Amino acid sequence: MTGTDTPDVSQLTQAEAAAELPGLIAALEAANTAYHTLDAPEISDAEYDRLKRRLAEIEARFPALARPDSPTRKIGAAVAEGFGKVTHEVRMLSLENGFSDEDVTDFDARVRSYLGLSPDAPLPCTAEPKIDGLSLSLRYERGVLVQAATRGDGEVGENVTENARTIADIPQRLTGAPDLLEVRGEVYMSHADFAALNARQAERGEKPFANPRNAAAGSLRQLDARITAARPLRFFAYAWGALSEPLSDTQMGAINQLKTLGFQVNPLTVLCDGPQDLLAQYRAIEQARASLGYDIDGVVYKVNDLGLQRRLGFRSTTPRWAIAHKFPAELAWTRLERIEIQVGRTGALSPVARLAPVTVGGVVVSNATLHNEDYIAGRDSKGAPIRGGKDIREGDWVQVYRAGDVIPKVADVDLSRRSADAQPYEFPHKCPECGSDAIREEGDAVRRCTGGLICPAQAVEKLKHFVSRGAFDIEGLGAKQVEAFYRDGWIREPADIFTLQQRFGSGLQQLKNREGWGPKSAQNLFDAIEDKRKIPLARFIFALGLRHVGDSTATLLAHQFGTWERLAKVVEEADNFQGPAWEELLAIDGVGETTARSLIASLNHSADAQAVKNLLQWVTPEPAQPRAVADSEIAGLTVVFTGTLERMTRAEAKARAEALGAKVAGSVSAKTDILIAGPGAGSKAKKAAELGVRVIDEDAWLAIAGGT
Ligand code: IVH
Repeated sequence: MTGTDTPDVSQLTQAEAAAELPGLIAALEAANTAYHTLDAPEISDAEYDRLKRRLAEIEARFPALARPDSPTRKIGAAVAEGFGKVTHEVRMLSLENGFSDEDVTDFDARVRSYLGLSPDAPLPCTAEPKIDGLSLSLRYERGVLVQAATRGDGEVGENVTENARTIADIPQRLTGAPDLLEVRGEVYMSHADFAALNARQAERGEKPFANPRNAAAGSLRQLDARITAARPLRFFAYAWGALSEPLSDTQMGAINQLKTLGFQVNPLTVLCDGPQDLLAQYRAIEQARASLGYDIDGVVYKVNDLGLQRRLGFRSTTPRWAIAHKFPAELAWTRLERIEIQVGRTGALSPVARLAPVTVGGVVVSNATLHNEDYIAGRDSKGAPIRGGKDIREGDWVQVYRAGDVIPKVADVDLSRRSADAQPYEFPHKCPECGSDAIREEGDAVRRCTGGLICPAQAVEKLKHFVSRGAFDIEGLGAKQVEAFYRDGWIREPADIFTLQQRFGSGLQQLKNREGWGPKSAQNLFDAIEDKRKIPLARFIFALGLRHVGDSTATLLAHQFGTWERLAKVVEEADNFQGPAWEELLAIDGVGETTARSLIASLNHSADAQAVKNLLQWVTPEPAQPRAVADSEIAGLTVVFTGTLERMTRAEAKARAEALGAKVAGSVSAKTDILIAGPGAGSKAKKAAELGVRVIDEDAWLAIAGGT
């Protein structure tokens, strides 16, 4: 079979091909095991590639012979399961986006107001290209590269150390670095390397990558580091995580230090005086964009003074001291073939435009969101015209755009190309999936299916959300598997996942006979499910997929209530929208009335309530620790600020107190522990005195807050 006299695939009869196939597959599988599991490759890369190519050729010529679990289909999906997890010591954040000049001047004004800087005080910022790749965190201990991890969900990423070691821009050793140094930056692929890689892919009959970003991500996340090594990846350093000592006291200084240590830093990084200077640099980088030789999608501005960065701190997922000024989205015209309605996990009917495929910014687009029925009709949520009031009809020529990673959108309609018999789109008033009424509540832009869990679309979407990455994250149980299991009646609600094995008695036997599953993957799935019988409370709450409860709200709720039982009790007691339980919900910073009402509606009254009860028979949410800093003397206390603070703005003081674990209230009551009174304190100070509340001045506060 490996000899030079092997007949060309075009010469084979189907019977000959069928006879050859098992041997080919066995050889490839043995090579995979030798390489991945035993770390002892038995055949050369060239031989491996040759076997694989031959298998692909046979499958292409005789599709009936292609097996669902063929080694040709295994890259990608199988790969992700193999990486270990890494919990980032310092979270990997994303950036707030800005799109206009005004967003940049607003950023400057917001930072000043937070810090209490006057409009003419200097506030230098760096400007640098936003690289369109994927972020990577490199950990060096005593100058030696010990770990590389992808961003993942920001808290937990994938361990890609061996792959990162194959990237020439990433030093294996550093001299003169702090004992602990985590360097963060972007892995990317140049245009030239991307073109060459795609040419090679085509030669081998493999699928080309859509763009350099996908190629970089696909190359880095290869379980086989030899594949990564053969892909020309590059790396720009632009940030850092955990450190044993500071790199510098400015952003620019730190970047220069990274350069001295041997990292590639972007040569277009400059220090600017203020917003006008930043905008000038934005235009300069925009001009240079086409000739850089790699993709960028905007310009990132960062406050230069690291002391100020520290004071500004973070919101839930983004720093207050930086903003990404994105380039305008790319546009293209195409024909809207039809409008389809998708039903989401909260029952929302979302119209989707099916488009004649068109390339927008290097990616082929064939679907775009149409948001909701008002958007199609040409009006905003208040009834005011958008797009000059032009509606969107099936058959229209529409302009589509992509902004960053987000789903493509429809921006405009060309009325001159509309056919005379085009009819206005009639948005359905029945759910297309289950036939239930779809109603639109007052003030809601969205029409929703009232079918709840009897609606298969809602049930499936809820299940998909339940197993997704930020939620239960069950390996081997993705959107596709959930759809198939739902269709076959194996899983109808989350609890069913945890009874899958037991319900079938021989669950393993049944599962491994399904197409796409083998004994190993079936066992892995049951192990992965077992592994999630205990789950952090925040993930548990998020996984329920309740309206208005995203991951940051779920985290807030977990830290506030500590246990599921306590959360459920408070939500139950708040049922009449008044009283202490209702107040307690509203008092959580970040939980408003909408969220509180949604919790009550879904946990006390909907079909979700029963589904949660069922789930709790099989799953234990692990208690969350209150988000308090152990050594802070105000952790867990309620504090109130009054009067003028002279060395810190109110916004900063509030954020600081919260970061130290305190709750900041607006008025003094018997529950207040400390009143921080600056000069000019009036009625609040008086009330505090009456109630015997402890009162401290700004100096004492600064001592607690750690100065500035
Ligand atoms: S700074 C705490 N600088 O953009 C801030 N990010 O949209 C950390 N990115 O996750 C990020 N170029 O992957 C920073 N010059 C640059 C960047 C950059 C690209 C990516 C990064 C981040 C994402 C946020």
